[in-house]
Amino acid sequence: SKPSMEKIVALCKRRGLIFQDSEIYGGQNGFWDYGPLGVLLKRNVREAWWHDMVGSHDELEAPAGAPSPFDMVGVETSIIMHPQVWKCSGHYDLFHDFMVDCRETKSRYRFDHVVGQFATAKHAKEDDAEPVTLFITVAGDSDDTGDALITRACEVFGLKKKKADRIEWSGSITPLSNAVELPEFSWDTTVGPEASKPGTLTEPREFNLMFKTTLGALGGDADAAFLRPETAQGIFVNFKNVLDSSRVKIPFGVAQVGKSFRNEITPRNFTFRSREFEQMEIEFFCHPNQSSDWYQYWRERRFAWYKGLGISEENLILREHHKEELAHYSVGTADIEYAFPFLDDGEYGELEGVAHRGDFDLRSHTEGKLVNKGGELVVEEGEDGKPKYRGSGKDLSYFDDQSRERFIPHVIEPSAGADRATLAFICEAYYEDEQPDDKGNMQSRTVMRFHPRIAPIKVAVLPLIKKEGMPEKAAEIYRGFKKAGIEAFYDQQGAIGRRYRRQDEAGTPFCVTIDGETASDGKVTLRDRDSLEQSRIAVDEIVAAISEKVRG
Ligand code: GAP
Repeated sequence: SKPSMEKIVALCKRRGLIFQDSEIYGGQNGFWDYGPLGVLLKRNVREAWWHDMVGSHDELEAPAGAPSPFDMVGVETSIIMHPQVWKCSGHYDLFHDFMVDCRETKSRYRFDHVVGQFATAKHAKEDDAEPVTLFITVAGDSDDTGDALITRACEVFGLKKKKADRIEWSGSITPLSNAVELPEFSWDTTVGPEASKPGTLTEPREFNLMFKTTLGALGGDADAAFLRPETAQGIFVNFKNVLDSSRVKIPFGVAQVGKSFRNEITPRNFTFRSREFEQMEIEFFCHPNQSSDWYQYWRERRFAWYKGLGISEENLILREHHKEELAHYSVGTADIEYAFPFLDDGEYGELEGVAHRGDFDLRSHTEGKLVNKGGELVVEEGEDGKPKYRGSGKDLSYFDDQSRERFIPHVIEPSAGADRATLAFICEAYYEDEQPDDKGNMQSRTVMRFHPRIAPIKVAVLPLIKKEGMPEKAAEIYRGFKKAGIEAFYDQQGAIGRRYRRQDEAGTPFCVTIDGETASDGKVTLRDRDSLEQSRIAVDEIVAAISEKVRG
């Protein structure tokens, strides 16, 4: 069974994994700080990602006909980019949520998930844990079109349609979820706990998620700038720079890890939905004819990555988006989702999206903001008939000097969240069991069973007692680990059983104990966190042995 979120949050604070930001001032909703252990864990997640995606990306077979190994390079771009970037990318006009307030209950709802004309809305009030029965009243006659839409909405949100005349659903997604229609429909909609009268909700209001700031001292509207809501655009606008400077050839990927910011209306579920978070994104550029194969490739490869770092198969799914969920330019998108403990059984939360974005991004930054007209992407016009937002005008096509072909590459985008991945690894690692203490009495134990590659501390060095030269020998071994770049922890305080348990809770996979025999036989005891097996190993082999194990 899943551990409770309360236990996980408490452990994160107790062990220095994650703290509430500015806690001494009461904290800030949607912002989190990583403590001494957390910073090591998150760094390991980032480094595993970079190593596996960029450093040693050619270990898996590329799709048939594609070169293997292919190129993967990295960039690190600015958080505040030219404002025109967000106009052309669509974020300026489109990157918003809708929110509605219920006048009766004073609850705020945020549209969480939009499918066609329908959306799920969630309570914005964190502490509002009351189960909600959802009523949607459609004023006037419900014609065929209306019925079809309602049937579809029921399908999409897994709701049961109860009555045909007074359109009524009972929610079965999560207690706090509601489905409501989007504003382009003129139906009179009522949503909320026991709300049955029309008109208790304010009109849905748009709310751009980008944090706005001003450049320079004058601070007029013309100086408005935005904190990036994704790292991806920094890669697209540098496409030509990367091409010209690094001799990469299509297909190739550009990776970036960095902070992104979204003024989320309902930050919630610990670090899952924050206002400041870190992304690990790849934009993979390929020939249009090969893009479907690469899309498959990246879906599978990214799914396998989480499993390889210890996420069990039963907690992980790859969910292909419904057609209605796709962005207007997207050929296909799949989410990699994890069964987070704050979700009901059978529900999953997004860890990463893998999207086939076609040539939308490179074209937008050349031509200007694109819109879908009858299935074609065309430049959106302003009222004067000119492009609404002008692109850079720079040619972002690619010339293949073998085939003598010029084309605009297609993009496959695996976009992961470093904080969400870290949270999933924490939730997955959490485990409670009972073990005998020093006196043989059974004691409950919390173990963080992190994969050795991401465990914050790899090895603890413990002198059995504080005399007979044991601390000196232990300190020497400890320094040996540090010198070899292995994160080690030295602890000589308290009974050995308690010290082991402290390390179990920190997720340290190995403990090395220096005892009375060490001086004579030149060996130490190596204890394994998960199997609890203990073995004797020579002091001069210990660094190499641990190094081998934590490489995974
Ligand atoms: N460039 C595509 C893009 O940004 P996204 O699905 O909006 O796509 C990608 O974000 C990933 O970033 C998500 O799968 C999630 O892991 C992470 N992410 C997005 N919003 C987040 C938030 N408010 N808090 C924490 N992580 C978030």
